[in-house]
Amino acid sequence: MMWKTLLLPAAFCSFVAAYSPFIIKNLNTHQPNGNPDGQTNYYRIQFDVTSSNGGANSTTTCQTFWGDNSWLQTESYSMAVPTGNWIACGANDFRFQLFPYFSIGNFSLAVQQNFTDAATNQEIFATAKTHMSNSTSTLNCDINPEEVMYQQHAHGDCNMASNGSVSLQVETEACNSRDATTIFEVSGSFDNNGEEIVLVGSIPELGNWSPTKAVSMSVTNPQSAGAPTFGARLEIAEGTSFEYKYIMQEADGSGKTWECCENRVYTIPANSACGEINVGSDWFRGGGSPIQT
Ligand SMILES: *[C@@H]1O[C@H](CO)[C@@H](O)[C@H](O)[C@H]1NC(C)=O
Ligand SMILES: *[C@@H]1O[C@H](CO)[C@@H](O)[C@H](O)[C@H]1NC(C)=O
Ligand SMILES: *[C@@H]1O[C@H](CO)[C@@H](O)[C@H](O)[C@H]1NC(C)=O
Ligand SMILES: *[C@@H]1O[C@H](CO)[C@@H](O)[C@H](O)[C@H]1NC(C)=O
Ligand SMILES: *[C@@H]1O[C@H](CO)[C@@H](O)[C@H](O)[C@H]1NC(C)=O
Repeated sequence: MMWKTLLLPAAFCSFVAAYSPFIIKNLNTHQPNGNPDGQTNYYRIQFDVTSSNGGANSTTTCQTFWGDNSWLQTESYSMAVPTGNWIACGANDFRFQLFPYFSIGNFSLAVQQNFTDAATNQEIFATAKTHMSNSTSTLNCDINPEEVMYQQHAHGDCNMASNGSVSLQVETEACNSRDATTIFEVSGSFDNNGEEIVLVGSIPELGNWSPTKAVSMSVTNPQSAGAPTFGARLEIAEGTSFEYKYIMQEADGSGKTWECCENRVYTIPANSACGEINVGSDWFRGGGSPIQT
């Protein structure tokens, strides 16, 4: 995914006083076994995060895993690491984000927690970013050195020292907006290279159903040339209900065609201000009518 990474989205405005740090413990990373046939294998990262923000100590476990083409890949880092979106950690309103060039012994990590400040009754988003590396005492790695010699994408594991922890200083911002960052994603199967998908709908943010005011979308998976995915992120107020459709067109804007069938409908959930909402990923529904311009 190629979303622009915004650690401090536009919906956030004012800085507020410092809060308690995030304590990261029990972190471990795993890089898959090399596989001579080049099958996909699974990278993993897992850690516990604790903070006492919002008036209570809360701890949760964060983890994700993803596939990489392990053996045939010469890069010494993951090519398919998920980047640019927050990965929920389950309980306690924590989430985390990974970044490009992830390798198990050397990577960047951002952690975010949202909580309500009892004193001001404001919702606070606290964010911290750090770089972790086996060149410090933070991570002990066991990476197969023989594989490193002829296939850099060697398998291994890294672990935080027993009882070790890392304390991340947070930056906090209050939510002063009613908008949720709303994510649209759609994939198309293309006849012509360079075709693209744009988005139009019933509210001003989506061009009030005017194809000439459609929202442009950017390709989020350039490696999938035959069936790219297009994404857009828009700020839309919580509680807003709208209808929308995608339009396929040539790169120069000609040959516009509606999606077929009924309009898509969505309501931005209440209490989603300053959060991220995904309206859902789907395929472009072909067979719709051409748009006369
Ligand atoms: C949270 O835990 C720390 C360390 O265990 C303790 O010092 C602190 O008093 C706790 N805070 C709350 C609000 O429970
Ligand atoms: C440290 O991590 C890097 C990147 O993952 C790796 O290439 C290197 O072998 C590791 N070194 C040790 C001593 O674990
Ligand atoms: C560790 O990561 C940083 C940032 O991505 C990079 O500049 C550096 O070269 C990496 N070091 C090693 C040993 O891979
Ligand atoms: C944090 O955000 C989630 C999702 O937006 C929401 O459900 C939850 O109520 C928020 N937590 C707090 C303490 O504000
Ligand atoms: C880790 O901490 C616990 C509790 O403080 C202690 O009982 C245990 O011995 C420690 N383990 C190591 C390996 O230091």
